[in-house]
Amino acid sequence: MTLIPSVPAAKRVLIVGATGFIGRFIAEAGLDAGLPTYILVRSPATCPSRAKTIKVLQEKGAIVIHGVVKDQEFMEKVLKEYEIDIVISAVGGANILDQLTLVHAINAVGTVKRFLPSEFGHDVDRADPVEPGLTMYKEKRRIRRLIEESGVPYTYICCNSIASWPYFDNTHPSEVLPPLDQFQIYGDGSVKAYFVAGTDIGKFTIKTVDDIRTLNKLVHFRPSCNFLNINELASLWEKKIGRTVPRVTVTEDDLLVAARENIIPQSVVASFTHDIFIKGCQTNFSIDGPGEVEVSTLYPDESFRTVDDCFNDFAATTNGVTSPNHVDEVLSKIAPMCA
Ligand SMILES: NC(=O)c1ccc[n+]([C@@H]2O[C@H](COP(=O)([O-])OP(=O)(O)OC[C@H]3O[C@@H](n4cnc5c(N)ncnc54)[C@H](OP(=O)(O)O)[C@@H]3O)[C@@H](O)[C@H]2O)c1
Repeated sequence: MTLIPSVPAAKRVLIVGATGFIGRFIAEAGLDAGLPTYILVRSPATCPSRAKTIKVLQEKGAIVIHGVVKDQEFMEKVLKEYEIDIVISAVGGANILDQLTLVHAINAVGTVKRFLPSEFGHDVDRADPVEPGLTMYKEKRRIRRLIEESGVPYTYICCNSIASWPYFDNTHPSEVLPPLDQFQIYGDGSVKAYFVAGTDIGKFTIKTVDDIRTLNKLVHFRPSCNFLNINELASLWEKKIGRTVPRVTVTEDDLLVAARENIIPQSVVASFTHDIFIKGCQTNFSIDGPGEVEVSTLYPDESFRTVDDCFNDFAATTNGVTSPNHVDEVLSKIAPMCA
């Protein structure tokens, strides 16, 4: 008799916020990895591009469930009926506390093997931005503490900055072309940060979800190939467009004033920009605690897309039209954005 080795069943993943900026990358990576991927979608879709995202994900095999995470009874039903193994939340900064009921639902059902809450930035227990960014971090910390007290198995993804020009007033900078008219350099432009392509945020997040080495751990993304300061980013972009662009300094005070204006979400981004490019919050600590790990050490054979490569994509969208007088023309070619 020949014994056929048993293949473990693929884990069923539920993604909350799959129509969002970060969630879309994760949903696509889940589908690319062949995982049965369910997406929780609020209805109706809040704007045409989100409706389009849902359609694209559905065509790739995603199963759509309509509802909201704030409804605990509904969430318990979803987790049980679809036998969900892994829950990944990528709700936006304004909805972090909506996850309180989601954690309660996961805890009540007791069958979810891993929960990844909406993190996807810095280590919120270490970083200490000024307000209004601090309020968001306090909310993310509150979700962490509830997860840990409940005993829900978790992974926290700290992927640092998305590979793009880090505009200090835009929550989704990779949807915007790097500057063609003027670079705004934060401070002296020498503080380094880690930049990760959206597709890699998705790919590596999905790799962690059933990896025993990431159970109850914080996973930092620090690709050495993408460790750059803003002066280096500016020079790289100048090389891509074949000309120099004037640089102006945005001082620490300018960023603090933008944060104090308390215009949401722009001031939140200003406070994070201050934390990253003035205070160095991505690099002022080493990863050596028992509860944390760097993603490249887990998957040494997997490469990261370089910022250089991502900037090639941006340059390609300009079709060679890189004069500042044609900024509007160029921007109109970039995918439409949601507010
Ligand atoms: N590292 C970085 O550079 C970076 C950049 C941006 C964001 N982030 C982080 O990534 C995470 C996601 O942010 P984002 O900007 O991607 O968010 P986003 O674009 O605003 O999208 C949020 C998603 O969550 C869904 N959602 C919100 N509340 C919900 C609820 N109660 N029930 C069900 N779905 C709900 C939204 O659905 P609708 O379509 O119905 O609105 C949308 O799909 C946040 O933690 C943020 O801090 C990191």
